[in-house]
Amino acid sequence: MRVEEVIGDYVNLKRRGSNLIGLCPLHGEKTPSFNVNPARGIFKCFGCGEGGDAISFVQRHDSIGYVEALRLIARKYNITIEETELSEEVRAEHQKAQALSLVNDFARDYYHEQLTVSEEGKAIGLSYFKHRGYTDETIKKFELGFAPPRGDALKQAALAKGFQRDFLKELGLITKDGSRDFLRDRVVFPIHGYSGKVVAFAGRILKSNTKAPKYLNSPETELYNKSKILYGMHLAKSSVRREDHCLITEGYADVIALHQAGIENVVATSGTSLTSGHIRIIKRLTQKVIFLYDGDKAGIKAALRGLDMVLSEGMEVKLVLLPDNHDPDSYVKENGGEAFREYVKAEAKDFIGYKADLVEEEAMQDPIARANLVQDVLKSVAMVPDPILRAEYTRTIGTRFSLDEATLVQSLNNYLSKRYEEERRKERVAQRNISKELAQEAIPPPTEERRMEAPRTDDYPIEAFIGDEQPSIPKQPVGHQHVFKDVFVERDIVSLLVRFSEQPFDEEADLTVADYLCAGLEEVLDTFEDKVCGQIARDCHGRQSRGESIGPDYWTNHSNDEVRAFAATVLTDKYVYSEGWFENFEISLTTQKMPELNWLVAAKRSIIRFKLTKLLRKMDQTTARMRTAQEEGDEKAINRLLKLYSRMEAVKKQLSAELGSVVLR
Ligand code: UTP
Ligand code: MN
Repeated sequence: MRVEEVIGDYVNLKRRGSNLIGLCPLHGEKTPSFNVNPARGIFKCFGCGEGGDAISFVQRHDSIGYVEALRLIARKYNITIEETELSEEVRAEHQKAQALSLVNDFARDYYHEQLTVSEEGKAIGLSYFKHRGYTDETIKKFELGFAPPRGDALKQAALAKGFQRDFLKELGLITKDGSRDFLRDRVVFPIHGYSGKVVAFAGRILKSNTKAPKYLNSPETELYNKSKILYGMHLAKSSVRREDHCLITEGYADVIALHQAGIENVVATSGTSLTSGHIRIIKRLTQKVIFLYDGDKAGIKAALRGLDMVLSEGMEVKLVLLPDNHDPDSYVKENGGEAFREYVKAEAKDFIGYKADLVEEEAMQDPIARANLVQDVLKSVAMVPDPILRAEYTRTIGTRFSLDEATLVQSLNNYLSKRYEEERRKERVAQRNISKELAQEAIPPPTEERRMEAPRTDDYPIEAFIGDEQPSIPKQPVGHQHVFKDVFVERDIVSLLVRFSEQPFDEEADLTVADYLCAGLEEVLDTFEDKVCGQIARDCHGRQSRGESIGPDYWTNHSNDEVRAFAATVLTDKYVYSEGWFENFEISLTTQKMPELNWLVAAKRSIIRFKLTKLLRKMDQTTARMRTAQEEGDEKAINRLLKLYSRMEAVKKQLSAELGSVVLR
């Protein structure tokens, strides 16, 4: 079994030197930083920091346990695994999980049989589903069932089959005192994990005139973590990937009805509101989500709660509200799948359009309510990580509400600095933890428990991936990201190139802004993270050295679409400058002017910031390597790295000082 074969089933891999490289499926990305090293049998993503062997890859990708992943691979490649290879603990743990899973399988089959075979089930449960328009195929696909009214039918059947009472309790299939079944006289919706195993059950009541809750959901168990399970995901994943967006609905019934109408890229949360755990699962498949919620107050609230979370994950989010008390289920039943698709296409609004509608409906006449809503929209905009998108959104708001854009930008900047403040605080904590780790002289002896752990991401030094060619610039692992995001800094610097290239930088020396910037960028031209920025910088450098024109017109007429779009944005917008403009280390920049007023300073600062960013990255890598060296007890490496690190510290100090001494006028 070769690591590239196993991972190649999930990721499109291209050879690069002695490694293979592709887009990381464990986090969303547009430029590949996911490396596979066949010689060592390992993978490492420099974007999200995940790394390990083929088994741990499958574990993370499918959110399953070690043994399960091992079995999955074994099945796929016709390998027999020696049970003795597994340690006692792993085996015990796995056996428990497997036993629980078997009990769930039994319950699923039992409920399904009750629905489709028993007279009672057919008369009550099946006729209910038929009444809702579910076909036999749908009932089978979702493994729907029926829990009979009798108090302990499932329990008796399970005990008769020899299943342990404790497991029934642990799974919430019977009450805590063990006397009765949890679901009685309800139709049953099994809830599946990512790989399609049943992890829980929901039961819907059949009578409408009762105070009992409409749906009962299994409690959280070893198998069922509500904030990580999306109903229908096991059936939706390939369609979500294919359609490149994921529909999120509120209910089980919505998912099922849409499937029956041929729309399969749809999931629902089960018995909780949307969490960032849910979002991350979706993010492995697509960057785009569409919320499909009822047009009522509760639906709107639910949509808004999810909104900022999705935005801050850097994903694209749209909202669709359904008309006249419809939910997706009733809408698709009444109008069919085609009409539903069209409705979504026509009505999907980005959050600004959506919130703007709210303003128009409710608050157009009331200036205070209106101002509040606008602030609310700006708060959401501040969650968007991409400064260019933020600028676009801000402009839209200005137009839509006929508001002065400068005021909006100011307001937005307030929210942004609040957010960065918070991020910086977190980063400081993270950095402190790293220092603490580094300071620990003694290496803890490997305990049983430690050896059991899945391989840790930092078990694999970057060197393992340096073959004939360097990997794309490694990003620092998640958890201690710097406030200086490469892409932001790159965009700032390139936006200066596009806007001011031919402006004089130093009239006496006859230097243009491009001359200055290109000279400063020469050694780092190949280290751009952002594709478009890198292209513009290199193009600019080339033309500048050949003495060709590089004025704004050149960029707006560029042959490459993305370059043109970038140029259009920075030239027509009040481009929102990245965090670097608002804070640089401890230097307060409250007096910083926008570059059109002070672009000489802007150019100088950009270069310094760019270099600082790259340096900080190198320092992070060095820290990671030190940790590895520490773990391996490699004294020589530790000393060498410490020296390197302190040299970099010195350069960092110098650059920071330079940054501070570029006088603000
Ligand atoms: P809805 O009340 O909208 O249910 O709740 P629904 O999915 O449209 O179901 P039908 O069409 O009436 O059969 C939406 C979701 O909220 C959760 C369930 O996940 C449900 O699918 N819910 C609702 C509960 O967990 N408990 C409840 O009592 C009600
Ligand atoms: Mn419904």
